[in-house]
Amino acid sequence: MDLGLASAVTIVTGAASGIGRACARALVAEGSRVGLIDRDRAAGDGLARELGPAAVFVAADVTDEDALRDAVDAVAERFGRVDAVVCCAGISGPFGQRVEEISVADFGTVLAVNVTGAFLTVKHAVRHLRSSAAPAVVLLASDSSFVAAPGMVPYNASKGALLQLTRALSVDLAENGFRVNCVCPSVVDTPMARADLGIGPEGWGDAGFPVQSPDDVARHVVYLVSPASRPVNGHALVSDFGYLARSSFPA
Ligand SMILES: NC(=O)c1ccc[n+]([C@@H]2O[C@H](COP(=O)([O-])OP(=O)(O)OC[C@H]3O[C@@H](n4cnc5c(N)ncnc54)[C@H](O)[C@@H]3O)[C@@H](O)[C@H]2O)c1
Repeated sequence: MDLGLASAVTIVTGAASGIGRACARALVAEGSRVGLIDRDRAAGDGLARELGPAAVFVAADVTDEDALRDAVDAVAERFGRVDAVVCCAGISGPFGQRVEEISVADFGTVLAVNVTGAFLTVKHAVRHLRSSAAPAVVLLASDSSFVAAPGMVPYNASKGALLQLTRALSVDLAENGFRVNCVCPSVVDTPMARADLGIGPEGWGDAGFPVQSPDDVARHVVYLVSPASRPVNGHALVSDFGYLARSSFPA
């Protein structure tokens, strides 16, 4: 299937690791050029070297509005356009702490990176995206946008906010084919999930729950970036092996 990404330029935040890195590789494999944005300079430079002339890396923290705007503009200048934005930069925050133990600073940091970071990325990409024939934004939300596990209050709150940010942006930007969607995966095998769940180099073994790969998520993201999903807008693509669909009815 031709996904129509051969002349596209896509910005990926959080591109230096995990899901963002898989998205960057998958987008380049489909012919897109990619602007990689991350605060991890060494890993971002390494990925840009691996991807070659189809990629440029610009170091920026997504909570630093000036640095992020300059990074977005640098990608637009390098490749002459921006057609899509994929917001993967995120943190899990104080994993395992109950609400009464969480500092307001930690709560605010999770919201700042996961929610404000996505807002700022879209805010500064919009004027470039408006020149595209098929502008698309994909936010990395989570199954935590819908359901919650204990010990993850700030993260759950941030992912719920990203779901509604997706809908709000899709309505706010709904003109000339502009689309905003999000992907909501359950556990993905990335450094973030491994650190939170204490998974070492031995891997997941029989974890007792399904685990997907960053490449699984990247395929969903590439589809939502692509004009192949042209009628899909304001949508949350839940990739959770069907957990959300299960009723508590004992049958
Ligand atoms: N791993 C999972 O199980 C899972 C499940 C659902 C959703 N997600 C979401 O997917 C996204 C990617 O997560 P991942 O698992 O690949 O994590 P990861 O830790 O492997 O990668 C996150 C990347 O974001 C970057 N980053 C973090 N804060 C940043 C900041 N302030 N500015 C710029 N870059 C920053 C990091 O440097 C890193 O490269 C996150 O939004 C996460 O919440 C992950």
